Formats: sequence, structure tokens, C-alpha cells
Amino acid sequence: MSDSIRIAIAGLGTVGAGVVKILAERGDVLALAAGRAIEIMAVSARDAGKDRGIDISGFRFEKDARALGVAADVDVVVELIGGADGIAFDLVESALLNGKHVVTANKALIARHGAHLAQIAEDKNVALNFEAGVAGGIPIVKALREGLVANEISNVTGILNGTCNYILTEMEETGRDFEDVLVDAQDLGYAEADPSFDVGGIDAAHKLAILTSLAFGTKVDFAQVEIEGIEKINATDIYHAAEFGYRIKLLGIAEIVDGGILQSVQPTLVPFERPLAAVPGVYNAVAVTGNYVGDVILEGRGAGQGPTASAVVSDIVDVARGFVFPPFIIPTAKLREAKAPAKNSLKSAYYLRLYAVDRAGSMAEITRALALASVSIERIVQSGERMEAGSGRLPVVFMTHETDEATMREAMTLLAEHADVAGEPVMMRIDNSATH
Ligand SMILES: NC(=O)c1ccc[n+]([C@@H]2O[C@H](COP(=O)([O-])OP(=O)(O)OC[C@H]3O[C@@H](n4cnc5c(N)ncnc54)[C@H](OP(=O)(O)O)[C@@H]3O)[C@@H](O)[C@H]2O)c1
Repeated sequence: MSDSIRIAIAGLGTVGAGVVKILAERGDVLALAAGRAIEIMAVSARDAGKDRGIDISGFRFEKDARALGVAADVDVVVELIGGADGIAFDLVESALLNGKHVVTANKALIARHGAHLAQIAEDKNVALNFEAGVAGGIPIVKALREGLVANEISNVTGILNGTCNYILTEMEETGRDFEDVLVDAQDLGYAEADPSFDVGGIDAAHKLAILTSLAFGTKVDFAQVEIEGIEKINATDIYHAAEFGYRIKLLGIAEIVDGGILQSVQPTLVPFERPLAAVPGVYNAVAVTGNYVGDVILEGRGAGQGPTASAVVSDIVDVARGFVFPPFIIPTAKLREAKAPAKNSLKSAYYLRLYAVDRAGSMAEITRALALASVSIERIVQSGERMEAGSGRLPVVFMTHETDEATMREAMTLLAEHADVAGEPVMMRIDNSATH
């Protein structure tokens, strides 16, 4: 067996501690798999004395994580601190510039600075591996880079945030509203104290931006992702979606539309019979459509200590095996810009929910407004049984015929200002097109 590969771990929280545990428990077998031992030389965290349930007494502790990026006795820096900028960025950039391999679980960092960091990694001929950053334990980066590399990819669709999927699943199973279930999710540790990154769709968008780049050979471009969270979905939406035969999922979709690349994260109605509709609770899933392979779906745990550390360790083993790939599969210099399609390119049916002011003639006025906005209605349900007593607001849901997003957005603006509509209406895409 050749010399050991020497690693340093920055961040000993949920994921970092998990990596130390796996290396302690499975180090012998992993050394055989990698052809060399994996040796932890140094670690860093904010608090040297915190009890983390792991033994770090044998490793050098660096108070300043930046020291790991220049340490002479380190071959691989494992960045598990988090955040798109600040210390994580400084450490990763300096480690790469110093010719060290980097393994990270930091999707925010890669979504924001992926192309820049990948270029440095290629210039220095080192690895920049981020499997754990996309859907935690699901090996989707490796699947796209290796198993599916023969294919031209036309669509990647994923349930990329376990917190949102848990909340939507609970809302359906209990009939409760979003705010109520969110509090439970926080109590159970599935949602952060500040849940906005998760429920606002940003976390899923970070992952989607990375997947888009891997699937379509484009420069990772987070700014191109259209993002909508699940905060506006209520129990009425879940109920009526089910009546129509759909389940609401926060879907990240990257697909070729009219020569552009659509990147969107938004709550979407998925037909019950489709595999993605059946993904429960905190699970993630990613479906990929390739021209030779057809549809492939990977499902598993997208977060948590075990699944995320599992992906980090597999990236470390790859480095120990001597695998160095361009981080986004093809050389960074060959990646194209991810040009978004025009807003009217993507045709879809839509679900629309609003509260009509409860007075004679209001429904006629609202449907007239929709007709004037060129939105053609397939079904209307006036949901009298879901009217809150004394509210004077009648929930109404519509399913439209196929139309484009620009037309729907204009209609939403008209409705939001309409005298017969109380509050802000909500629209969601109905995904009838795909097979997964
Ligand atoms: N948790 C998951 O399920 C999951 C899933 C996928 C990806 N990720 C990603 O994995 C990364 C780590 O997440 P996590 O959940 O493990 O976070 P975490 O539990 O909050 O741990 C963060 C660690 O970073 C350390 N740290 C913070 N600031 C530091 C600094 N300036 N210098 C040195 N160390 C510092 C903290 O030290 P102290 O412990 O001393 O405070 C802590 O050990 C993030 O990029 C996250 O997005 C996490």
C-alpha cells in the first residue's frame, strides 16, 4: 500500500463529526478500497473544547481554519463549515491555490463560486469534490459524471429539500396549515430556527444550479434560477390538489426549453401516480432523463449526519484513489453560459387559488378578468365547505388550460388588484408533461 493520504477537516458540526466517526469505524476497509490509508492530520472548529461525541485528541487543532489551506502536511482539505463566502470561501480558494484537493458539502459556496473555484482546481490539477452538497447521501454527482456520462441530458427534476418535503407531507397527512407544521418541523430538528433558506426555496435552488451545470455543461449560475418557496401554500391548496389527482411538491426543474435552459424551483402539482409524487417526508429524489438511458431516479436521505458524511467520505476515497476530474465534468473553459428561455416558451396548465369577496356577482367578475387576461379555465371549484366562518372570503380554485408563464403572471397582477379578490392569489404549475 502506498503512503497515506493526509486530510484536514474544517468544521466539526453535524457533518464534520460524522466524517470523523465514519473514518474511525471504517478506516481499515476504506484504506483497502482506496489503496492507501486516510489519515486525519488536523481539524478546526470554533470551540476546541466542545463535546462532539468524537475523539479528536489525536489530531492537531487549528484555531484558525485558514491555516489548513497552507499546511505543509495536508493533501486534502475537507470544508464542512458552510456559507457561500467568508471563511469557507477563503479556505477553499487558498487550499486549491496551494495545490491541495478539496472536498466540501457546501452547496451555497459551489452554487455561487463554482466556476471560479473549478478553474483554479483544474489549473492546479487537483480535485474539487462536492457530492454531499447536492441531495446529501444520494450519489447524483457521481451518477451524472460517471454512470450517465454517455447521455445527452434533457431534464433533471428533483425534490431537493427534505424540510419542505416533510412539511408538505405533514400538511397533507394532517390537514394542518403551513405555519403550524413548520413549528413541529423545528421542534423535531428538521427545520432551522431561521427556516427561510429551506422554505423559501434557496437551499433547493443552490442544489439545482449545481445539477444544471453538471447535466447541461453550463457555468453554474445561481442568479438564473427562478425561486419560489412553499410559504404561501395552505391546507386548501393541498386539499384541492388532491381532489384533482395531484400532490404538491417543491420541485427543482432544469430542462431545455426553446434552446434555453429553464432553472426553476417552485411548488408544483405532480400527478399522484408519478414516482416523484410518492417521495415522502424528509426524503430527496432526483430524476434524470438521458437520450440513451431514458429515465433514472435516485431517492434517499438528502440531509442528516450519516447520509451527508457518507457522501463526503466517498469523495475523500475518490481523491485517495487518485481520481481527479474537472469538477463540472467537462473543462471549465468549455462550459457554456446558462441562457434562460423566454418567459412565454414553457407551456403548462396552472392551478390558481384565490379568495373571492363573498358577494353576488363577484365570481362572474373574476372569471371575466381571467378571460380578459387570455387565461382559459378548465375547472372551477368554489370551496364553500372550506370557507372560514365569518371571514366573508370564499376560497375558489381554478385549473387552467395550457398557457405560458408570462400570461399567468399578468393575470395574477390583475387579480391581486381586483376589487372582488381578497388578498394575494396563488398560482402553481401543473406538471403533466414528464414521466417521472
Ligand atoms: N447538516 C446536514 O444535514 C447537511 C446536509 C448537506 C450539506 N450540508 C452542508 O455541510 C456543511 C456543514 O453543515 P453542518 O450541518 O455540519 O453545520 P454545523 O453543524 O453548523 O457545523 C458547522 C461547523 O463549522 C464550525 N465553524 C463555524 N465557523 C467556523 C470558523 N470560523 N472556523 C472554524 N470552524 C467554524 C463550527 O464550529 P463549532 O462546532 O465549534 O461551533 C461547526 O463545527 C454546510 O455547508 C452545509 O450546508 C449539511
